[in-house]
Amino acid sequence: MTTTTTHSEKELAKLPVARLQDVLLARLVVREEAARLGFAAHALTQIATAVSEIARNVVQHSGCSGHFSVFEIADGGRIGLRISVDDGGIGIGDVDRVLAGTAPGAGIPGCRKLMDEFAIRSPAGTGTSVTMVKWLPRA
Ligand SMILES: Nc1ncnc2c1ncn2[C@@H]1O[C@H](COP(=O)(O)OP(=O)(O)O)[C@@H](O)[C@H]1O
Ligand SMILES: [Mg+2]
Repeated sequence: MTTTTTHSEKELAKLPVARLQDVLLARLVVREEAARLGFAAHALTQIATAVSEIARNVVQHSGCSGHFSVFEIADGGRIGLRISVDDGGIGIGDVDRVLAGTAPGAGIPGCRKLMDEFAIRSPAGTGTSVTMVKWLPRA
């Protein structure tokens, strides 16, 4: 699944992800911004969980530090949140196996289900880049 090209976007926050405390801060910040945009309680939990899982992967697995960014996006009549988490670490390599659930770990396939759009690039040796989108239900 790839992510939609949107008509406008505004960066709401950008944080380094290097230690566990950064994961907790990213979770808090995204939840706050999503609540401000009007996401319902169930969606807030989904978004916060996905950010937490993907940011935690940077700390646990990448061997490097990274960044978390959150954008407010608009596409036609739709408003949403785009989240990106990038690191410059070891990369996953066979990301298809992880997405298919045939490699150990349920974090990434689980996050994909929690969000409306989910894209991951993680060539071995050049880091990991995850982009996730959640759209607000149309009024
Ligand atoms: N940012 C990352 N950098 C390097 N490897 C990663 C990264 N994120 C995930 N991985 C690799 O992909 C596997 C699957 O990740 P995930 O689905 O989150 O499960 P878990 O973290 O529980 O192992 C991890 O075990 C790890 O080997
Ligand atoms: Mg994980």
